Amino acid sequence: MRSLQLHSDGRLKHFLSTEGLPRAVLEEILNTADAFMETSGRAIKSVPLLRGRTIAMLFFEGSTRTRSTFELAAKRLSADVLTLDVGLSSTSKGETLLDTLRNLEAMHCDMFVVRHADSGAAQFFASHAREGVAVLNAGDGRHAHPTQAMLDVYTIRRHKGPDFGRLRVVIVGDVLHSRVARSQIHALNILHVGELRVVAPATLLPEAVQALGVTVFDDLDEALVDADVVIGLRLQKERMRGAFLPSEGEYFRRYGLTTERLALAKPDCIVMHPGPMNRGVEIASDLADGPRSVILEQVGNGIAVRMAVMALCLGRPRASL
Ligand code: NCD
Repeated sequence: MRSLQLHSDGRLKHFLSTEGLPRAVLEEILNTADAFMETSGRAIKSVPLLRGRTIAMLFFEGSTRTRSTFELAAKRLSADVLTLDVGLSSTSKGETLLDTLRNLEAMHCDMFVVRHADSGAAQFFASHAREGVAVLNAGDGRHAHPTQAMLDVYTIRRHKGPDFGRLRVVIVGDVLHSRVARSQIHALNILHVGELRVVAPATLLPEAVQALGVTVFDDLDEALVDADVVIGLRLQKERMRGAFLPSEGEYFRRYGLTTERLALAKPDCIVMHPGPMNRGVEIASDLADGPRSVILEQVGNGIAVRMAVMALCLGRPRASL
């Protein structure tokens, strides 16, 4: 995977997963995003970096934040954006992924942003793409969602500074089905996070979760003690087959994030969630909307981070704005 994602000189070629990437690559994404954050505050938000390039957005699965922020990111880099309406496209008539790719390549697209329900779909695109064409994974099954993880670590860095070694991060919820959690865990470990705690009922944890370099907790209150960052995850009911939970009420009682519970964390602990949120299931509304929540900031930061990944993958050095 690492060799598929990087050019021989170590630059980013495709962005499919945070797993196995060098720390310098993740830091370059974060530093480039910093430069783009500055342009987002201007009245004229676009920069001409990718003028004349074509970026195709292929969302085979639903999306609100990821799709809109990828699209805005491409537009703010002045790229031409093609958004395939997958529901109305020929994949719904049985066309294979490879044929869809070849046809879009014939239109001279330079980059594909792919979200798909199957783990490995973006990797499939990348391994079959023509030389010079970049593929960004916008979420594949329960495998990876690398730009989400990068916007999450970017948000953490803006609040807590660049030394991740000082931080205790807690991830709570449906880790088993979460591509976001998997990508966050890899990214945070590559950035040498101080301590990474994962909290979930045993039925919602992957089998070899400890091997990912996390400490597992069953009790949320214990895990929250002295936390700097708490990340809630959605219960991914669409990926559950069978009974994983007694009831949503019971889940909230044991694993729901509330203002009272947050008293156990550090006073300046921030609360994050990738969205979409199930209010009253994973997180109480007053906490989600309260002063410790950076959930909407995550969304805004997603534009700068996705601009950074697009700019780096299309072969430009760190953005000179
Ligand atoms: C996540 C996803 O689609 O993986 N959302 C997102 O991209 N912001 C998480 C989820 O669906 O729960």
